[in-house]
Amino acid sequence: MADQLKLTVNGTEQTVSVTAEMPLLYGLRNELGLSGPRYGCGLAQCGACAVLVDGSEIRSCITPVSAVVGKKVTTIEGLPALWAATKGHSETGSQTLHPVQQAWIDEQVPQCGYCQSGMMIVAAELLTKNPDPTVPEIKDAYTHKPPSAHLCRCGTYAAIISAVQRAAQVMKS
Ligand code: FES
Ligand code: FES
Repeated sequence: MADQLKLTVNGTEQTVSVTAEMPLLYGLRNELGLSGPRYGCGLAQCGACAVLVDGSEIRSCITPVSAVVGKKVTTIEGLPALWAATKGHSETGSQTLHPVQQAWIDEQVPQCGYCQSGMMIVAAELLTKNPDPTVPEIKDAYTHKPPSAHLCRCGTYAAIISAVQRAAQVMKS
């Protein structure tokens, strides 16, 4: 039987009618129409489904919806507003891409693009917690943080490092 669960997603409180154990990924995509987080493996082994919960990356494919009640969920769609809030900008400011998203465009990171919202979620978390990461620290964020490395079948890893460095410069200025 479905429960009525209140979630705060991208700054807005939403009520979803789902079973409490439903994976958050399905709730975001199917109930709220947020198609940024992707279904890759469904096993916390690829990172395509990554979102931020209270500022830290989680894998939404294995996280039940009930686990995020009362917490702040941010998907790739919410990064512009997150950046605007960080800088104290107005609502209008939230129409501007997050520096991570802009850097992904400027460095032409995506190939097929399937993994990239998860990759940008990692970058957004990393640069909030470590504004000036070294290359080993960037690699570490993508490879050694549990539950698994973030995988890109197209092999965009070098471009991701360049984009994180570019975003870091913008976010510091
Ligand atoms: S779909 Fe969640 S980690 Fe792969
Ligand atoms: S860009 Fe294709 S899987 Fe990463």
